[in-house]
Amino acid sequence: MYKEIVIRKNIEQHMRELREWLNETADMELEEMGDFFTRRIGDYEEHMAVWSRAYQRFAQLLPADTKSILDLGCGTGLELDEIWKRNPEISVVGVDLCQSMLEKLKEKHSDKKLQVVCEDYFQYDFGIEQWEAVISFESFHHFLPKQKKVLYDKIYQSLKKGGLFILGDYIACCEEEERLLQEIYFQKRKKSGIPEERFVHFDIPLTLEHELTILQEAGFLNIRQIESMDGATMIVVEK
Ligand SMILES: C[S@@+](CC[C@H](N)C(=O)[O-])C[C@H]1O[C@@H](n2cnc3c(N)ncnc32)[C@H](O)[C@@H]1O
Repeated sequence: MYKEIVIRKNIEQHMRELREWLNETADMELEEMGDFFTRRIGDYEEHMAVWSRAYQRFAQLLPADTKSILDLGCGTGLELDEIWKRNPEISVVGVDLCQSMLEKLKEKHSDKKLQVVCEDYFQYDFGIEQWEAVISFESFHHFLPKQKKVLYDKIYQSLKKGGLFILGDYIACCEEEERLLQEIYFQKRKKSGIPEERFVHFDIPLTLEHELTILQEAGFLNIRQIESMDGATMIVVEK
């Protein structure tokens, strides 16, 4: 069991604004994942500044004595900026499929123990019982439950016993949000004839209940922490 938390303060207003946005963007074609972020690299960090408090909080969830982490979908490393402020010696492997995001990360942190891997995290080998902590911020909400299950299994296997998976992500505030976004996602993919294996940028968050079910199915039993800040929900689970 976990303590109920507030994902959105005003669900009605959030759903109304979401429906309006979906109507306004109804004719917009989906963009391929890497292309989406490459096109927006110029103002990406400014756009994500709404989560500056959440990035700080996310960094606090990582134990201060952690020596090395794997960051999945690290992008330009906004979460890493905060983690390195607290722990400048930590060594990081950052995986992202978007080369331009990784270039920016390297530019910002040339003095840090950082290895970047430009690869799809579904393909990248996370290793076995290798990590003290695996982290991911605002990346996995682009994927369906069956894809998350594959990722969470891989993360579980890659963690040392007692290791932490720290997830910060967009969580649906109600089943209606989850259902509506998946419906539109499938409609848009079908309309543009996008093959199943191609990644596109469209948000399909799960409810907290559904997210936790997949984590538990992967073997994570000890839910250490769940909290939400400015629309980003943070979940810490232990192997
Ligand atoms: C919204 S950004 C978040 C980046 C960073 N974690 C942050 O919070 O600023 C999502 C990132 O996930 C990456 N991404 C999405 N799907 C991926 C995949 N299958 N493999 C690797 N990276 C992926 C994107 O390229 C993008 O950089």
